[in-house]
Amino acid sequence: MSQRQSLVAANWKMNGSLESIRQLLAAIAQGVNKETQSEVLICPPYVYIPELAGLLDNTEIRLGAQNVSQHNSGAYTGEVAASMLKDFACDYVIVGHSERRTLYGEGDVRVAEKFVTVQAHGMTPILCIGELLEEREANNTEEVIARQLDAVIEMAGIKAFNNAVIAYEPVWAIGTGKTATPEQAQEVHEFIRLRLARHDHETAETVRILYGGSVKADNAKQLFELADIDGGLIGGASLVAEDFLTICHSVR
Ligand code: PGA
Repeated sequence: MSQRQSLVAANWKMNGSLESIRQLLAAIAQGVNKETQSEVLICPPYVYIPELAGLLDNTEIRLGAQNVSQHNSGAYTGEVAASMLKDFACDYVIVGHSERRTLYGEGDVRVAEKFVTVQAHGMTPILCIGELLEEREANNTEEVIARQLDAVIEMAGIKAFNNAVIAYEPVWAIGTGKTATPEQAQEVHEFIRLRLARHDHETAETVRILYGGSVKADNAKQLFELADIDGGLIGGASLVAEDFLTICHSVR
């Protein structure tokens, strides 16, 4: 039996308004209580981080960001530094989300730099990895996952994963309503753990690996039951308080 604490993370992406996020947060906060076995995390758009930092004070819910600059400060118009996120009590930062990789051209090296920067500022990176549909169809899933993981291991070292979370998100499952089957997800999660174990068994055993990609209230339980799945990274369903809470309460 693993000792891994499960984590359910909301990725609100670029959704909401000040008014709507206040309501959503209030509804979520009401439903997270002592019975909630999982750690619960919310990653709102950057500009709402200060507001949420205030609202989440005195709750068990953790705060995170969806992205960060790999640089510490300077002439990087439009970017946000890790120190700024730390100023507002962020504990986690998502790095390498597939939307960043595909829409904003973030490659493996830049993602690894962001991972290192987040840790250097005392926060925990959530490293997203996952294959495109054509990569899966060409039977390249493991190769892609290995490449994405190895880039970070090379730059940060294997021990860095003692303070990191991995999110396996098959790109073809994100926002599409096509969830990976429990077998497909478990297979890749196990592969990720084995890949890390080549360097360090203990790290591989303790790192939390989330599944992301169309996790919904009605499929979360069967995913979270699997041996190597330690929770989820939730997009669309995290914008509906009732659905998100059902997912949070679906962990073993
Ligand atoms: P989804 O998004 O739950 O809407 O598929 C997941 C993610 O992108 O993290």
